[in-house]
Amino acid sequence: MDSNAPTSTRDAAAELEALLQVAQTLVSSFDVDRNLRRAMRILHEQLGLSRGTVALVDPETREIRIAAAYGLTRQQLARGIYRPGEGVVGRVVASGQTMVVQRVSEEPMFLNRTASRPDKADISFVSVPIKLRGEVLGSLSADRVFNKSVSLDEDVRVLEIIASTIAHAVRLYWTYRHEVAEGDRMRGELRRRYAMPNIIGESDSMQEVFRIVGKVARSQATILLRGESGTGKELIAHALHYQGSKPKGPFIAINCAALPENLLEAELFGYDKGAFTGAVANKPGRFELARGGTIFLDEVGDVPPALQAKLLRVLQERTFERLGGTKTLTTDARIVSATNRDLEAMSKAGEFREDLYWRLNVVPIFLPPLRDRREDLPVLIEFFLERFSRAAGSDVKLSADAMRRLMSYPWPGNIRELENTMQRLVVLADDDEIGARDLPMHLLMHDAPDETAGGGLTLDEEVEAMERRRIIAALRTNANVQAKAARSLGITARQLGYKMRKYDIEE
Ligand SMILES: Nc1ncnc2c1ncn2[C@@H]1O[C@H](COP(=O)(O)OP(=O)(O)OP(=O)(O)O)[C@@H](O)[C@H]1O
Ligand SMILES: [Mg+2]
Repeated sequence: MDSNAPTSTRDAAAELEALLQVAQTLVSSFDVDRNLRRAMRILHEQLGLSRGTVALVDPETREIRIAAAYGLTRQQLARGIYRPGEGVVGRVVASGQTMVVQRVSEEPMFLNRTASRPDKADISFVSVPIKLRGEVLGSLSADRVFNKSVSLDEDVRVLEIIASTIAHAVRLYWTYRHEVAEGDRMRGELRRRYAMPNIIGESDSMQEVFRIVGKVARSQATILLRGESGTGKELIAHALHYQGSKPKGPFIAINCAALPENLLEAELFGYDKGAFTGAVANKPGRFELARGGTIFLDEVGDVPPALQAKLLRVLQERTFERLGGTKTLTTDARIVSATNRDLEAMSKAGEFREDLYWRLNVVPIFLPPLRDRREDLPVLIEFFLERFSRAAGSDVKLSADAMRRLMSYPWPGNIRELENTMQRLVVLADDDEIGARDLPMHLLMHDAPDETAGGGLTLDEEVEAMERRRIIAALRTNANVQAKAARSLGITARQLGYKMRKYDIEE
C-alpha cells in the first residue's frame, strides 16, 4: 500500500466517524484548550493530518495565538504568535479565506514561526478560517506530507466543517467565561476556578449534569447528589463549591456514615467545654466552620434518626446549638449532600424522615453509573492514561485489544474502579504498550457484556459472544455429548460442529 494514497480515497464512513468524534470532543469538558487538543489528536489519528493547529484571535489584543495543536512541543507552541495579515495564518484570519500551500518550501509567505518543520521540503499546508456569522475567530490548519497526486480539496472540505464546529464551541465558551467574569466584577471578587477541567463526560447524561451544575452553582440552593459508589458525587460537590458564588469560603466535608451517632453529632454541631466527658475545651462544629462556604454532607442517608431531626432544623431555620451550649448559632453555609442509598424507599420504611428528604432534595443531581454511559469510557480511559503516564514520566499506550476489553467490562465500581485500574496498569506497564494480557484477571474473565448497552461490541460480535457462551454451557450440561447439546440448543449436530470450529471451542 502506498502510504501517500490520494486523499480522495479516504473512507467516507471513517471521515464521518472522525467528524462526529471531533464534534463530541469539543463539548466533552469545560476546558476548551483540552477539548481542542483532543480534537487535533483525532484529526491526526483518524485522518492522517499531522500538526493540526487551532489559532485563535485574542478578543482584546487582536493577537493570533495558537490555542491547541497536535504534534508541537510547549516551546514551539509559545512561539506561535502572529498578527493579522502576517504569514499564512495571519492572512487567513485577516481575509477570512481558506489558503492552501502545495509545498511550503516554495511559499515565501510561509513563516514556519514555530520552527517545528526543520525539513519543510515536502509538506503541504492547509489553513481554513474559524468563522461564526461572518466574524473570524481564528484559523484551523494542518500539514500533510506532500504528494503530487494528492488533491487537497478533500482536506479543505473536512477542515472547513470542523472549523465551523470549533467556532460554535469557542463562542459558547467565551460567552460563558465572559458571563462568569462579569458576575465576578459585579460582586467585586475575582474567581479563577470557574472551569471543571477534571470532570469528563461526553454522554448526554453527563452533559445534562454539567448543564445543571453550571446553572445552580451560583445559587445557594440545597443540592442532593445521587448515584452509585464511585460515580463522582464528591467531585461534583467540589465543582459546585468552586464554581459557586462563594468560592472564597471554606468547603467543609463530613462523612455521615463514618462516625458513630454521638461523635457525628459533636462534629456537626460542635460542643462546649464540659458537655460530655472528654470535652475539655470549646469546639466549633462543621456547620459553624462552613459559614460563608459550603458544607458537604456525604452519605447523608446514613444519618441516624435522632440526628435527622436536628439536621432538619438547620435546614429549616439555619439555627442550631453546640452540645452543652445555650447560645443559638446560625449558619449561612450552602448545603450539598450525597448518598448512594434509596432515600425514597427508606422514607417509606420510616428510616429516613420524609420532611428532611424534601428539604435536602431541592435540586437533585443524578450521576449515572458508568455502564449506562459507555460513550464516556474512551475519553475517561484516555484521560486517566494521560494523567497517570504524565505522573510516571512515561508515555504508555493501550493496545486495541486491551481497549476492547476495558470497553466491554461493566465497571461495577464505576469511575473509581476505572481510575484505580488505569493507575495500576500504567504503574505496572513493562513497555510502552498495555496489552490485553496486562489486564487484571477479573477483567479478562468477564465475558458477559451488559446486554442492553452492547458492551462496546458490534451487534455481530455480541451475537457471536452469546452463541459461544450458550454452546459452551450446553456442552457442559450435556457432559460434552455433542448430539445432546445440539438438541438442547435446537440445532443439528452438524451445525454445532461447525460453530465449535468457528469459535474455536474444544471438545
Ligand atoms: N466525570 C469524571 N471525570 C473524571 N474523574 C471522575 C469523574 N467522576 C468521578 N471521577 C473520579 O472518580 C473517583 C470517584 O469519584 P467520587 O469520589 O466523587 O465518587 P462518589 O460518587 O463520591 O463515590 P462514593 O459514593 O463511593 O463516595 C474520584 O477519584 C474522582 O475524581
Ligand atoms: Mg463519595
